Amino acid sequence: MTNISKTPEVQALFDRAAGIDQSGGNPRLKAIVRDLLGALGEIVEKHDITESEFWNALKFMQDGAGEFGLIVPGIGIEHFLDLHMDAKDAEAGIAGGTPRTIEGPLYVAGAPLVDGDLSRTNDVNLTTDPDDAETLTMAGRIIGPDGEPVKDAVLHVWHANSKGFYSHFDPTGAQSEFNNRRRIKIGPDGRYAFRSKMPRGYSCPPGGATEKLMHALGRHGDRPAHVHFFVEAPGYRTLTTQINFGDDPHAHDDFAFGTREGLLPVPDRSGGNPHIEFDFQLQRARTGIDLAFSERPRAEA
Ligand code: DHB
Ligand code: FE
Repeated sequence: MTNISKTPEVQALFDRAAGIDQSGGNPRLKAIVRDLLGALGEIVEKHDITESEFWNALKFMQDGAGEFGLIVPGIGIEHFLDLHMDAKDAEAGIAGGTPRTIEGPLYVAGAPLVDGDLSRTNDVNLTTDPDDAETLTMAGRIIGPDGEPVKDAVLHVWHANSKGFYSHFDPTGAQSEFNNRRRIKIGPDGRYAFRSKMPRGYSCPPGGATEKLMHALGRHGDRPAHVHFFVEAPGYRTLTTQINFGDDPHAHDDFAFGTREGLLPVPDRSGGNPHIEFDFQLQRARTGIDLAFSERPRAEA
């Protein structure tokens, strides 16, 4: 193996390339770019990456840029970001509550805000999917660290339809706007309930960059059926999570690494249709940032 990436000449090259010898620019960005260049140099040498391989990899990324949001969970990085946030929480002595898990790339901002106060309504419906699909009901409580009901919560819900497609991103164009997407305004008792149609497990788009990469890695691009949530409420830390159906064949083989202990409920089918009871437990907000959503760019409709 060659051994040039650690030489003073190459280190100086990467320093200059990252603007380390310049007073201007963003110091944090400069430090990160510097470390990325150093790591890349080592990888090129370690694997003796050829010019052809390098430029073809770049072309793959250029052509697949529209799927970066799908590739990132597929290669475990979105889950790693969760593990990093968990580790920082542990370091700061923050623990407890429903685990966070990946947002995924398919949230759409601006879904209808509907009344979910169960003293006034018991019919929060998320779907316009046809009746032949299986009905899914889900209910439970949004509580705080001491088990207290969380007041004035908004529960954002989004999930795929019975064919595994999300509205707004459905290649068949079959779904109504905001189908299977709602923001539910929860009443003072913290109780929620909704009905929808049972999602099917999701698969990354056939022929796309994510699937190509998964196949090249000897992997599949399938997720178990799942339902996504943001839970936000004054005084509490905003939670990004999802439940994955514990009896799905991919429950323990999720290509996006979104399944986690405590987030794999098995639906109760004793009443005919699948029903899930699930409580969300929030942490108390400690800073303003806890109340906010991440600044991840999201689709809007
Ligand atoms: C992907 C799709 C999802 O529905 C999800 O929740 C996470 C990841 C993806 O295509 O990578
Ligand atoms: Fe999803």
